[in-house]
Amino acid sequence: PALQCLHTFALAAQCQQLLTIEDAEQLHDVDFSQPFCVLGEGSNTIFTAPYQGSVLLIANKGLVIEEDSDAWLLHCEAGENWHQLVQQSLALAMPGLENLALIPGTVGAAPVQNIGAYGVELAQFVDYVQGFDIAERCFRNLSAKECEFGYRDSIFKHALKERFIITRVGLRLPKAWQANTSYGPLQALHQPTAQQIFEQVVAVRQSKLPDPYQLANSGSFFKNPILTRQHVSKLRQSYADMPCYDVDSQHQKVAAGWLIEQAGLKGYHIGDIAVHDKQALVLVNRGAGTAEQLMAMIKHIQQTIVAQFGIALEHEVRLLGAQGEIHVEAENE
Ligand code: EPU
Repeated sequence: PALQCLHTFALAAQCQQLLTIEDAEQLHDVDFSQPFCVLGEGSNTIFTAPYQGSVLLIANKGLVIEEDSDAWLLHCEAGENWHQLVQQSLALAMPGLENLALIPGTVGAAPVQNIGAYGVELAQFVDYVQGFDIAERCFRNLSAKECEFGYRDSIFKHALKERFIITRVGLRLPKAWQANTSYGPLQALHQPTAQQIFEQVVAVRQSKLPDPYQLANSGSFFKNPILTRQHVSKLRQSYADMPCYDVDSQHQKVAAGWLIEQAGLKGYHIGDIAVHDKQALVLVNRGAGTAEQLMAMIKHIQQTIVAQFGIALEHEVRLLGAQGEIHVEAENE
């Protein structure tokens, strides 16, 4: 089966078998002794080679809503589209998810990288994550704490990687809603409604981030690196206007897109793989891009940023090779 239409970076690739999971109970019948990978809408995964295994396409649908005196509880099946869930919750007058509007991908993929944008992270709303435990061959729920959420990180990328298939996410939206307008372009809004924040987020995203179905891409390609305060103040001596954000008392996060733009790489291309001209943290495939061009681009960006700033960029997008996930590391000078 062809994978080009199943991942938004749209490189040409195949897999040995494609299994569409429309009902989570089907997971009981899957042979997990063979290589497999789990896929939602493919907006954060790139197939860089013919995949020697089965792709499990998670496509179970459904939404059940409950409420208690303090909150709405959304029990959402993993195959639902994330943005549709955001729209639906707002239409039902259940605010909370508005800052996370227009993030591509499925509900089931959202906890893996703890999706976040405009001052808000999914982790804030997670009540539980339900999934199929491959070793035990049964379904179980993890609490938000057990998910070990971090910046673009969770237990599903570490201890539970390839051991747990997310089938449902339980979100808790407190009825005592508070607007989060901490992020720059939202600060101009005065006592906004959730709908107004939603509209502003959609407008900001549309102005910078290419629609993956019009110009192939996987969103932010690299993570924003977390550096010690000491490292940041040293860099600031040369780059006074470098944007950075507090993480904790010891660390700050710097904007990888800014570093890439400063290095003169905005618009740079290798064949059909290019650094997006409106947001340098996004790589795009202009149509006929190849895995070789993409690998060359990743290495070129990493080497340039190490040479200029002494920072090793880590890719945030999941790259799959023939045998499974691969990591392209920046080489220190
Ligand atoms: N910047 C530049 N040039 C660029 C890109 C960014 O100078 O080409 C500067 C911006 O002006 C701004 C700073 O860098 O001062 C940060 O840029 P932006 O607000 O666009 O956000 P980001 O740090 O590049 C992160 C997330 C996005 C999320 C936005 C908004 C990561 C890896 N990415 O991007 O998430 O939408 O913040 O909250 O944390 C994604 O993960 O796929 C994604 C799109």
